[in-house]
Amino acid sequence: MSKEPIENKEYNNKELKGIRGSILTFKDNPFLNAPDKCYDFIKDGLIVITNGHIVDVGDYQTVIERNEPIGNIDVYRNSVIMPGFIDCHTHYVQSSIIGSFGNKLIDWLNQYTFPTESKFKDKRVAETAAKVFFRQILSHGTTTANVFATTFEESVDAFFEESMRYNTRMISGKVLQNRNVPASLCDKSAEESVEISEHLLNKWHGQGRQLYAVIPRFAPTSTSRQLRLAGELYQKYIDRGVYLHSHLDESVEEVKWVAELFPYIKNYAEVYDCFGMLGHLTVMAHCCVVNEDEWQILHDKDCAAIHCPSSNLFLGGGQFKYWEAMEPSRPVKVGMGSDIGGGTGFSIIRELADAYKVAMIGSHNLDAIHSLYMATRGGAEALHLEDKIGSIKPGYEADLAVVSLNPDSFTSWRLNYALDIFEKLFALITLSPGNLVSATYVAGHKVFDRMNGEQFSYSPNFKD
Ligand code: GUN
Ligand code: ZN
Repeated sequence: MSKEPIENKEYNNKELKGIRGSILTFKDNPFLNAPDKCYDFIKDGLIVITNGHIVDVGDYQTVIERNEPIGNIDVYRNSVIMPGFIDCHTHYVQSSIIGSFGNKLIDWLNQYTFPTESKFKDKRVAETAAKVFFRQILSHGTTTANVFATTFEESVDAFFEESMRYNTRMISGKVLQNRNVPASLCDKSAEESVEISEHLLNKWHGQGRQLYAVIPRFAPTSTSRQLRLAGELYQKYIDRGVYLHSHLDESVEEVKWVAELFPYIKNYAEVYDCFGMLGHLTVMAHCCVVNEDEWQILHDKDCAAIHCPSSNLFLGGGQFKYWEAMEPSRPVKVGMGSDIGGGTGFSIIRELADAYKVAMIGSHNLDAIHSLYMATRGGAEALHLEDKIGSIKPGYEADLAVVSLNPDSFTSWRLNYALDIFEKLFALITLSPGNLVSATYVAGHKVFDRMNGEQFSYSPNFKD
């Protein structure tokens, strides 16, 4: 495995490359600002890329004139080019248990999740799952994900190795869990588990586009000692951009269990806070049964809450209320998460379809402007990466999803009845056809091409 960051190699390539089509990108948060001012939509646009980065974007005629000659221009008609989607919470190690029948969270973990994750001590199991996972997310236009591996170093290495091959910007790390899990998955000691995490952090954080997260699974599966050491590790490296990723307030049963395990602490968010786990790079999945004190802590500490609607519906725990999270007096940043394998698929667009239905049950309507913001720039803001990814803008990393407005004849026919682009996109989100994304670019390289026999392609700069 090459240890040289891929980004450095790409700086040697000065050739310009273009991608032409309709372009949609966000520049601000439509939940907190006038929605019309928060996006740019260019009907016939051109994105100019060199060395993996966007160097120009705008109306085709204007951009072509100020950039000629552009060697190669990929043209997408009847499509919308968007920033690559950002999946702020998922578990690649659970890809093989999507759609496992019958249980709510704790029983589902015991019956399906823990036995499956126990197999990831075997590096070959991890490598196969990583390959499958990357192909799935890339074919659904996801270019960055914040991903749980599991207990074993092998599961972390296999994930980052595959990410290096695609040159994707990914966040992952070893899962810390030293109680209430089977022996096959249990860390030997709190001390050793955090030492292994630090070793992996030093190995992977900043390697190419890879970023490390300290990942205590959730409060019930770590002793106080492990949570304290995890919090210390996070605080030691937070200034270098290391994350803390966990689950919070997913279901009422889980919240009760945490209250029994930590009877002297006021609420679940405070458990994490008193062990030093909350900070601006803390990402908490689910956040469905959050009380006002907890929202205030999450706001004060600048943590992100991740909306995982298909998983919340599938596991029947609770429902995320984005309007509570984003209450303007103490807003908490929100990103979208597929939460595989509680979640029912890899598509962030399909998560938006479920998010709409959940919002409707709560008497809120989530339109395409707001939901596509959450899938792109909102996710980048939740991960504090909004200066690198999540927008189509000069200086940004060229991670792009090409969304087809003609994925099949029915969808195309239906969209003819939509009056403007956002009506079209809303109907498209609702239908969420599986072949919605026709191409995906990572750092300017086409890693997925549906038009060309569903081909996947590693970064041309990667040398194994
Ligand atoms: N809480 C702790 N672990 C998990 C997990 O793997 N999936 C979900 N949905 N919730 C969790
Ligand atoms: Zn999860």
